[in-house]
Amino acid sequence: MIRAKYAIALTGAGISTESGIPDFRGPSGIWTKNPQAERRAYQSYEELLSDPKKWWEQRLSGPSLLGDLEKAKPNAGHYALVELETMELLKCVITQNVDGLHEKAGSVNLIEYHGSALKLRCVDCGLRSKRGEFDLERLRTEGALPPRCPKCRGVVKTDGVSFGEPIPNDVAQRSLQEARKCDLILICGTSAVVYPFADLPRIARQRKDGPPKTVIIEVNTDATPLTEEKVSDYLVRGNTGEILPRLVETIRRIRES
Ligand code: APR
Repeated sequence: MIRAKYAIALTGAGISTESGIPDFRGPSGIWTKNPQAERRAYQSYEELLSDPKKWWEQRLSGPSLLGDLEKAKPNAGHYALVELETMELLKCVITQNVDGLHEKAGSVNLIEYHGSALKLRCVDCGLRSKRGEFDLERLRTEGALPPRCPKCRGVVKTDGVSFGEPIPNDVAQRSLQEARKCDLILICGTSAVVYPFADLPRIARQRKDGPPKTVIIEVNTDATPLTEEKVSDYLVRGNTGEILPRLVETIRRIRES
């Protein structure tokens, strides 16, 4: 890590479990415990496109599967990545998480690949807004859902990318650029089974030009297809909230010695 010229981190739901937010496919994951909810999630984007009013009414009628994200707090794993960025050893964090915890922890060069549950986005022009910029409850009681884009009047949805929804172009392009220029990737707390995100380490591996072979390190409680297919060089088994702070500590000690 110390010798890396351009290290990046890819993260998934596993980095937030120590903040009390369940992951999806781990032993007590949301989809593991509620396969029906996963099936419903696969239909969500089509439902939004066919009836955005009904989609919003459903969304506002019940709690989020991830719990109250406004109250959620980053954990030592998130803060360790911020420290690595402050030490200029980590150049970028690309996360699948929509919980906003990397931003709350203070990550600067951050790409929310699957968007953020705390933001909204226009389906037509892509304009993003903070959730608080719309009075969704008033729109609901006045029967004025869906919220409309202040720029183009297009339908506004939550910024979180649904299954089957294309990754917004700006996010996809930036992530590809980062994957193509990195020489080290720390992959933290993801089962690496959801595409196109899971392609990023393979893209970093494949490239012909630029720095020598990218070193790929997984930090995860379990092995993943990246481990099995030898896309990653190392798997450090354990909790990100314990291992990442230890990594920072070790680097700090080496630098001071
Ligand atoms: N530290 C390290 N690894 C952990 C921890 C932890 N504290 N907690 C859980 N894990 C591991 C799990 O064992 C699992 O391998 O993290 C992984 C989380 O994988 P998933 O639950 O599949 O989450 P993720 O890979 O982020 O899912 C990708 O799928 O459902 C969609 O859009 C959703 O962004 C999400 C995407």
